[in-house]
Amino acid sequence: MLETVSAVCATLAGAAIVAFLLLLTRLKSLRRKLDTERRTTDALTEVVVEFAEFRGSPDAGHARNVRRYTQLLLEELRLRQVAPEILTEHFCRTVARASTLHDIGKLFLPAEIFLKNGPLTVEERRLMQTHCERGEEFLRSAEERLSFSSFLGTARHLVISHHECWNGSGYPFQISGDEIPWEGRVMALVDVYDALRRPKVYRAAVGHDECVHAILALSGIQFDPQVVDAFLARQDDFRRLSES
Ligand SMILES: [Fe+2]
Repeated sequence: MLETVSAVCATLAGAAIVAFLLLLTRLKSLRRKLDTERRTTDALTEVVVEFAEFRGSPDAGHARNVRRYTQLLLEELRLRQVAPEILTEHFCRTVARASTLHDIGKLFLPAEIFLKNGPLTVEERRLMQTHCERGEEFLRSAEERLSFSSFLGTARHLVISHHECWNGSGYPFQISGDEIPWEGRVMALVDVYDALRRPKVYRAAVGHDECVHAILALSGIQFDPQVVDAFLARQDDFRRLSES
């Protein structure tokens, strides 16, 4: 009897060890897949920024700044426990990495518009506004070919919605409030702050305090008030980063 019990225990222990080893192998392969995804998507974003620099984009440096601003805002929103079921650590990390791609659609525009330093005509502005859809189409086609659906899906949502406004007056779909994905709400504020802080051919860089006033005035109009509150709480960090 004792021998039978020992044999059963030995079999169960053996099965548990095999199951544990299989689980370990599966976890290692999952980790390898995630590492590959992270390295590949980081390389993709780097290539896009380098291509923008190669094409002489006046906004090429802009792509690198926005990642740091995006991290700051999302960090603050998480601290405040805003939408904790959506703004998970993984989601926020992915959004910050994807933020570099927010204007990827501009690379598909004619050079005379893409490189224009001065104000755009009405027709040029209409064409420029198609950069959200062009970028989204590009990422969708990449998503169909690659298996990195988490990163590319987040990047697509961010690209298509970063010019929508809280009150529904943005583009391309004029969606409003909670209809706008978090990726787009955060990116909208970051994009404007960074654009204002950078000098253009036709105007000097806007001072930090003036940017804060402009953003505050657009709370509930262009921007999600919760995102504006998070920005106000971290505005000193924004100032430091913009001056570094
Ligand atoms: Fe844009």
